Amino acid sequence: MGLVLDIVRSVPRTADANGVPVASEGAVPRSLGMSRAALASHGFDGKAGQTLVVPVASGPTLIAVGIGKPSELSAAVLRNAAAAFLRAAGKRAHLTTSLADVEGVDARTAAQAVVEGVGLANYRYVGLKNDKTGSPASTLSLIVGQARAASARVGADRAAVITEAACLARELANTPPAYLTARMMADKAAELGAATGLTVEVFNRDQLVEMGCGGIVGVNAGSVEPPRMVRLSYTPKNPNGHVVLVGKGVMYDSGGISLKPSDAFHIVMKMDMSGAAAVLATMSTLKALKCKTAVTGYLMCTDNMPSGSALKLGDVLTMRNGKTVEIHNTDAEGRLILADGLSLAAESKPDAIVDIATLTGAVLGALGEKIAGVLGNNQGWVDQVRAAGTRADEPTWQLPLAREYRKLLDSNVADMRNIGGPYAGTITASLFLDEFTAGVPWAHIDMAGTMKVDSDDAWLAKGATGYGTRLLIELVTNFAPIS
Ligand code: BES
Ligand code: MN
Ligand code: ZN
Repeated sequence: MGLVLDIVRSVPRTADANGVPVASEGAVPRSLGMSRAALASHGFDGKAGQTLVVPVASGPTLIAVGIGKPSELSAAVLRNAAAAFLRAAGKRAHLTTSLADVEGVDARTAAQAVVEGVGLANYRYVGLKNDKTGSPASTLSLIVGQARAASARVGADRAAVITEAACLARELANTPPAYLTARMMADKAAELGAATGLTVEVFNRDQLVEMGCGGIVGVNAGSVEPPRMVRLSYTPKNPNGHVVLVGKGVMYDSGGISLKPSDAFHIVMKMDMSGAAAVLATMSTLKALKCKTAVTGYLMCTDNMPSGSALKLGDVLTMRNGKTVEIHNTDAEGRLILADGLSLAAESKPDAIVDIATLTGAVLGALGEKIAGVLGNNQGWVDQVRAAGTRADEPTWQLPLAREYRKLLDSNVADMRNIGGPYAGTITASLFLDEFTAGVPWAHIDMAGTMKVDSDDAWLAKGATGYGTRLLIELVTNFAPIS
């Protein structure tokens, strides 16, 4: 994120813009020098997310930032308001605000939300532009009263770690496929893992063959780029449990022999590794955040390409857990690579597993671009995942793991086929994944709909969203043993 953060008592002399929170009812802060009626005459009534630049003769640009009804104030409202402030501040570099010093949200939560809102909205992907003018803000000073300062510092520091991780996930997903192959992803994971206190193991094609990982090897068959599986391990002293994260890392999904049309969806298939990016980004924060749970992360990385050596329709693969799969569509590749990852995860008998994947176009039909689908075999664990998403403002909705659809996966020649019928594609994909979980509490996050936004939207910046990173961090740093 690169934002310099500090906690101050009053407006710093070097500030370029000062964001003053204004609720939609009650008193207007004196520092604005305007009455509610005057603000209203300029079209500003304090609604959450509204901003108004208030002209001043000298000093930093004054920006009124709407926070809505005091009774409805929350971390999500503050995160959105902070993002709106960043956008209203334009190219100004040093921002200051008392948004974290509001009543109704505790200091730690408020500071975390405000730093996240500014930091996430400040992200730009400039990797391949000659004009590297990127994120406008470089410093954020939170104005906080003495009583709240220490807690605000804790929240701000936590947010800095989390925001940097989410922006890393975005950066990886925004990177074009030739600039981020499976091998490069593994190299990055090795480097980042070593720098953030993780044990990193990288598995190459030969090792994956040896391990019986027929799914990832099969999907990779058409590619000149070899696959990589990365296992990242975080092991604190006396952990309160063990959670395994599995991420879909399809570096580029052409569909394989079941080639995708060259449409708007195909062009974003460089982002088909967003699940693996979220897992890697999450893992990188655990030591800094003093996570009490042991966490293992699997990145299942390969591209999905058509060629003379590619996987064929009618072929049968044998997955890590021994189950056989008849290929009916090579574009249903995500579940094949996750099958191996989930099998390995289950073998270690963890307390819980969660996988995250840009898995089905069908989840877009069901839930659109703002809500991810969650399915699982254990309601308590699904509830924990959903609650983490709510706290992170990364929304989810549960779809049923409807066993009555399992027969849609029946095959004449193998244990199952890799696609179901024309309907309920997100559910049949999940029923497929469930075959590899060996009954361990498991939840699946289908983030195909939420992987990108087409324009800036509150704290989301155009392009990859980094979805799931903040949800997973919330989840594993608040893990509660499953009864
Ligand atoms: N990576 C795609 C899913 C996807 C679609 C992600 C749109 C992001 C946006 C996945 O591998 C895929 O191709 N799924 C197929 C499955 C089908 C062949 C059963 C799909 O959803 O069409
Ligand atoms: Mn596909
Ligand atoms: Zn895919």
